[in-house]
Amino acid sequence: MAHRVLLLNGPNLNMLGIREPATYGSQTLADIEKQVIDEGKSLGIEVTCKQSNIEGELVTYIQQALGNFDAIVINPGAYTHTSVAIHDAFRAVGLPVIEVHLSNIYTREAFRHHSYVSPVAMGVICGLGATGYRLALRALAEKL
Ligand code: DQA
Repeated sequence: MAHRVLLLNGPNLNMLGIREPATYGSQTLADIEKQVIDEGKSLGIEVTCKQSNIEGELVTYIQQALGNFDAIVINPGAYTHTSVAIHDAFRAVGLPVIEVHLSNIYTREAFRHHSYVSPVAMGVICGLGATGYRLALRALAEKL
């Protein structure tokens, strides 16, 4: 049976294409999701995509992943740097998680240097733009 991966994107990532293209690139979230779904098909992974601007909704998606998905790829957006609730949700479900950021958060403002998600992630990819999401899927294809 194909592995099932949930791709979660957090706040403001629905604005990709318009939002600070010099930092986040010119592709829309729909463009990126299509690429990840296609990459999944070539790897035998079924990818489901969700985006929310609401912290609690992301927590609910993580909780509902239990029993329905084998792993989660997440770009938590700004909640990376603030959300104990998302950290706790990952600990609660215990699914493998890969954290992705389009930008290199370590070359940016100091408030972006801390992640609440990294301590509960199997791996972290940042600074490689949309390629990072596809690399996350390839890593999961080897690890799952
Ligand atoms: C981001 C980096 C975060 O610091 C920021 O708040 C985002 C996007 C990235 O993909 O580079 O919304 O997660």
